[in-house]
Amino acid sequence: MFIRIHSGSESVLDIVVTWNTRDNTKESICEFGINGLEHTVKSNKPPVAFVDGGPKNAKQYIHRVTLAQLQPNTTYRYHCGSRLGWSAMYSFRTIFEHSNWSPSLAIYGDMGVVNAASLPALQRETQLGMYDAILHMGDFAYDMCHEDGSVGDEFMRQVETIAAYVPYMVCVGNHEQK
Ligand SMILES: [Fe+2]
Repeated sequence: MFIRIHSGSESVLDIVVTWNTRDNTKESICEFGINGLEHTVKSNKPPVAFVDGGPKNAKQYIHRVTLAQLQPNTTYRYHCGSRLGWSAMYSFRTIFEHSNWSPSLAIYGDMGVVNAASLPALQRETQLGMYDAILHMGDFAYDMCHEDGSVGDEFMRQVETIAAYVPYMVCVGNHEQK
């Protein structure tokens, strides 16, 4: 399971949780809360099947739910999955927008599985709460599609250690052609 969160289109206080599974669990559920798992959101759409373009045509399922209208400047814990199984527990802190708010961002491109020189610092600084969001401006994994997508899977496992804790926004680079 690979987990990523990002801010929703409606509001910075809407957090979208995205994860992938190898099995079709048929439902996508996120349980979350401040003191426990007091809230549950279930997607009203089935997970989307994604077939890798490599020789094995490996299939995985993309799940997405929105945690809407959260409280500002609040730490939420969450896990996601289905009645067939749950991820580990993760957490994120919502932002507090005010008149002189100045977000702290990490912005980079070109991070692969091999020689991800920035990853240890990003993991440490994210988990110390130093960033409000991370922007990865394309070129992931080198390349996501290599080795029947297993390079992409390894990349997602590596970035989960940051992307599950802070909004991780991405755009497409020239290595995301396939
Ligand atoms: Fe590049």
